[in-house]
Parts: sequence; structure tokens; C-alpha cells
Amino acid sequence: MKIAVIGTGYVGLVTAVCLAELGHDVVGTDVAADKIDKASQGTPHIYEPGLEELLKKNLKKGNLAFIHDLDETIQSADVLFVCVNTPQREDGSADMVYVEGVSRRIAENLNDYKVVVEKSTVPVKTSMWIKRTIDLHKKKDVEFDVASNPEFLREGSAVSDFLSPDRIVIGVESERARDILVKIYERYKDRVLVTNIDTAELIKHASNSFLALKISYINLISELCEKTDADVEQVAKGMGMDPRIGNQFLRPGLGYGGSCFPKDIRALTKIGEDLGVKFELLKEADKINLRRIDTFVDKIKKALWILKDKTIAVLGLSFKPETDDIREAPSLKVINRLLEEGALLRLYDPQAMENVKKTTPEKPPQVYYAKSAYDAVEKANALLIITEWSEFGELDLKKIKALMDNPIIIDGRNIYEPAKMRELGFEYYSVGRKQLL
Ligand code: UDX
Ligand code: UDX
Repeated sequence: MKIAVIGTGYVGLVTAVCLAELGHDVVGTDVAADKIDKASQGTPHIYEPGLEELLKKNLKKGNLAFIHDLDETIQSADVLFVCVNTPQREDGSADMVYVEGVSRRIAENLNDYKVVVEKSTVPVKTSMWIKRTIDLHKKKDVEFDVASNPEFLREGSAVSDFLSPDRIVIGVESERARDILVKIYERYKDRVLVTNIDTAELIKHASNSFLALKISYINLISELCEKTDADVEQVAKGMGMDPRIGNQFLRPGLGYGGSCFPKDIRALTKIGEDLGVKFELLKEADKINLRRIDTFVDKIKKALWILKDKTIAVLGLSFKPETDDIREAPSLKVINRLLEEGALLRLYDPQAMENVKKTTPEKPPQVYYAKSAYDAVEKANALLIITEWSEFGELDLKKIKALMDNPIIIDGRNIYEPAKMRELGFEYYSVGRKQLL
């Protein structure tokens, strides 16, 4: 059985490499030629722990290849995983233009029975549109099936998430498609859930939106903690001891970013409203998330008063640790707000600086990209923690204090302990915990 992965971005590249690792014969293709060239040379265009060695290993094994020719890839494969991006439009809905374009190309190249698998996060009912598009444009009257196999990959742990999944969701409408997809995931047969297609599509959107809702919930609670003597980290700990709540995704901070949560919660809201179901609940979760930036900037102003010409060190630019991805990263919103106020920024991130430079070019002293965290804090009037990279938790804080002009830290991800920061002589602000001077 030959598998094609169409679109080798964050999701597609991991899917192609991991399906090959499962022993399948995989070909990846993408409109971005450089991504294909780099993947063919064994160099992923994205940073994901474990991805590079698996890519090299499977290229060497010979059951993984990356080619530019989409038509050829479609014609020679039995199963087509569609992993093109579904960006968010102004009105919050997912832009399906790429999925529709690929569906048409599949129709034009349909030379035998194939299963077209939606891997990308797509609105419920998308499979009906894909089916209709292929039926409309197919050149030969051959059978095909559409299926939904949503991805649950977290960036920074995508390879391990793929190879040790909690669940494999397979949405199908024929036994033939079901048998093929169940066979692909033979290794995980103990955790395969087979449903109809609408159900599989909705499981993805409902899961992501629930996780986003959970994060906004703890962020809302942290706002209440800041008005009382409650400590949000302890509140989260106490809540999480109830297995019905669980202790994951209860970390308060700058809110969620990334290419999924912000987009998926709005897409599901739009789907619901278009179908006449009111989604005020998720709209409120989205509002709480957006408010995190204002709350954080207010803290910086509380510490520094006037931000103009103040030197501010920013540690962490990626939307979360262990990735170079800055899509919808809270850091970008904070940086823009500070630049508007005329602050002088010294930015540092272990992986994501090259990506930020594309939209925020170096222009000292307004924008300086530091060589290290210590370089970033030199002569700073304040230090902001935006992304909780583990190396920031291991910094020599005495050295940090000596390098700064003013020992002020505004910690957006609660990576430090208030009592310790007070001992070290920092003026320390954090989330949902008493500020200790
Ligand atoms: C995207 C969505 O962000 C995610 O929500 C969804 O679950 C899967 O698709 P991601 O892989 O992060 O995930 O997007 P991106 O990194 O932009 O990759 C999409 C790839 O598809 C890009 O490499 C792009 O070049 C490629 N593409 C896009 C095609 O090959 N053909 C197209 O017509 C459009
Ligand atoms: C998410 C889902 O976890 C994954 O299942 C889905 O397939 C894609 O979207 P991802 O966006 O890569 O994965 O990262 P995730 O670890 O979920 O974090 C998302 C955002 O939430 C990040 O900005 C992170 O900083 C934030 N977050 C996460 C919190 O603010 N608090 C938490 O407790 C957890």
C-alpha cells in the first residue's frame, strides 16, 4: 500500500516520517519546493525533537521519499493524506481554498480506487465538499472514498504524540476505507475509534476548543486570585487532584497561541453559529485569552510607569517551548505593544529568533536580538518572561540581577518562585500570585 502526504508542513512532515517509521511506503509532496528539497536531504525545515533522526533513518531505509510532482504523487498512491493548511479567515472561519484545490488535483489524477484522508483540522461537513469536488472534476469514473483522521499533535512533542497516541480517530463511510485505515494504524489497534466522518471531524474541533476553554478558565481564576490572597498555582494544583478535572492544561499565563487553538475555537464558533447554535461560551473563552496581553502589559506599566526609552529584555518568543513556531505567539502581541510605547527591546529565544526577524527586523536600540539570555538583560530596566523555555528556569539569577539596571521581573508564565525572588532582591510580578517587593 503506497501512502501520499500532500502538504509537508508542521503536520504533514511529521505524519510522513512517522507513517514511514510504522513501516509504510510514503511519498511526501508540497508546493514549497524548498521544503521538499530540504526534506529529501534529510534536513527538516521545522524544529521538532526526534524528527531529524527519524527522517534520515527512513530516507535511508528507502520507504520514504519527497518529490515535487503532485500529479505523480497522487497517481502512484493508494491513500492520500491531505495536510495542507486551513488558515483562519477574517470572520473566524477556516479558509478551505487549499483543501479544495488539492481535491480538484486528486480528481484530475484519479486513476484507481483511493482513500482521500483529511488530516488537517477541517470544519465538520468538509468531507462532503471534498467528495462533491472530486465527483465533479474526476476524469475517470473510478471509485474513491473520503475519510477523516484528525491529528492530535502538539508542537514540541509531535513525533512522540504520533508514535504513542492516546487515540486514533478514524471517520469513514465505507468498510473498504475503514479496513485500509485500520490496517495503517495496526500497531495502535487497542486505541482506534471508528466513527462516521462528521463525528471524527467534530472530535478534533471539540477537543481543541475544550483545551483552550480550560486554559481560559484558569486564566480567569488567576484574575480573581490577583484580587485576593489566593495563589492560582495552588488553586490549579488543588483542582487538578480531582481526576475528573485533571492537572494538565491548567497553567495560567499569557494565554494560548499557536496555529491551532486560536483558529480552532473561532472556526468551531463559526460552524456552530452558521448552523444556528449559539457559541457564547467559546466566544468568552477567546475574549479572556485576548485579555491576557492587556493584563500583562498593565503589569509592565505598573512596574515601569513610562515605557518610552526603557530597556526591556524579553525572554521567549515562540508560542510555547521546544518549538521555533511563532504563529499567534503572545510574544508578538506584547512586542508590538511595547514598540508602540517606544520601549527599547532586547529579545532572546533559543529557537524562534530567525522567524521573528522576518516580521520584526533588527533595528537597535529599538529592536536588538540577543546572543543569550544574559546578553538580553544587559542594562535592562525590566525582564519579561514570555515563553517558559526550561533554560530560563536554570539561569543564574544573581548574575541576571548584576547585569540589569533595575532588578524588575515580570513573569508571564510563573517560572520562578515569589519568595525566592524576594530573597534575591527582585521586584517580582507574576500571574495570579501576590507581587512581592
Ligand atoms: C495545518 C493547520 O495549521 C493545522 O491546523 C491543520 O491541522 C493541518 O494543517 P500545519 O502543518 O501547521 O498545519 O500548516 P503548515 O505548516 O502551514 O503546512 C501546510 C503545508 O501545506 C505548507 O508546507 C504548504 O506549503 C503546503 N501546501 C499548502 C501545499 O502543499 N499545497 C497547497 O495547496 C497549500
Ligand atoms: C494543540 C493541542 O494540544 C494538540 O492536541 C492539537 O493537535 C494542536 O493544538 P499545540 O498548539 O501544538 O497543540 O500546543 P499546546 O501544548 O496544546 O499549547 C497550546 C497553547 O496553550 C500554547 O500557547 C501554550 O502556551 C498554551 N498553554 C498550554 C497554556 O497557556 N496553559 C497550559 O496549561 C497549556
